[in-house]
Amino acid sequence: MAGDKAFSCDDEFTDFNKNDISAERAKKNLAYDAYEELADLYASLVDTKPHNAYYDRPAVQSLITGGIEGMKILDLGCGPGVYAEWLASRGAIVTAIDASDKMIGHAKKRAKGKGKIEVLKANMEEPFDFFDAGTFDGVLSALAITYIKDHAGLFGEINRVLKKGGWFVFSTEHPFFSYRYFGIKNYFETRRVCCDWEGFGKSVNMPSYYHSLGSISEALSGSGFVIEKILEPKPSEEFRKADERGFEKLMKFPLFICFRAKKIEDAR
Ligand SMILES: C[S@@+](CC[C@H](N)C(=O)[O-])C[C@H]1O[C@@H](n2cnc3c(N)ncnc32)[C@H](O)[C@@H]1O
Repeated sequence: MAGDKAFSCDDEFTDFNKNDISAERAKKNLAYDAYEELADLYASLVDTKPHNAYYDRPAVQSLITGGIEGMKILDLGCGPGVYAEWLASRGAIVTAIDASDKMIGHAKKRAKGKGKIEVLKANMEEPFDFFDAGTFDGVLSALAITYIKDHAGLFGEINRVLKKGGWFVFSTEHPFFSYRYFGIKNYFETRRVCCDWEGFGKSVNMPSYYHSLGSISEALSGSGFVIEKILEPKPSEEFRKADERGFEKLMKFPLFICFRAKKIEDAR
């Protein structure tokens, strides 16, 4: 996140520097340990932390147009379940997935009495064998696909579980931000990066992947999607009230980028 300390990690799971994750951690899923460490603070701050509540969420929500009552929606990388709750409050039948045990715990607690929400532990790096093809009307994934190296594989699975005409809305770090922030040497190359996140009240080393804009777009079109809208969000007025300096920065340079895509054919 902006203001945190960046380390551009050596590619793949070798040759770690001292700030990097261990090979053992990487075997689970890239960001597992980081989110286990962060989950309680994340859950307690997600409703009011400006980058989430007043920047990412209004943008992602604006891409979910039309009524969603009765729709089956998959929330991928649900974290503590704030999006799942929002979707269910609008009448959707929600399945929420996350790989972090602690996040799953928070999402389950939050889901109680909030409508039709099922919370499952699963790794987005692996096929969703437990869902039949064409199960969902929509898939939402906020700030989670950055932890997946193989976007084509993930988007292909998302295509499979979506009905034809179904939507896929997601947000992620803006490639231009990451390119600059992580000091990326080759814009076109997908690579692992990491930085120390300080924004949640304790320092947590967070690994993720850098992807170019073209690679995200190609992974979508190669997986049977057409991009309906790309949104480079601006912070809301609530953001300004909470963090004037951060607001001014985000009015001049994007941190996140959001997509709305539609399944037009089965993935090859
Ligand atoms: C930045 S949080 C976003 C949470 C939620 N979508 C939100 O916006 O509040 C990213 C989430 O992705 C989850 N995640 C990361 N890698 C994952 C993977 N391979 N499979 C499933 N979830 C993953 C993390 O555990 C974490 O809860």
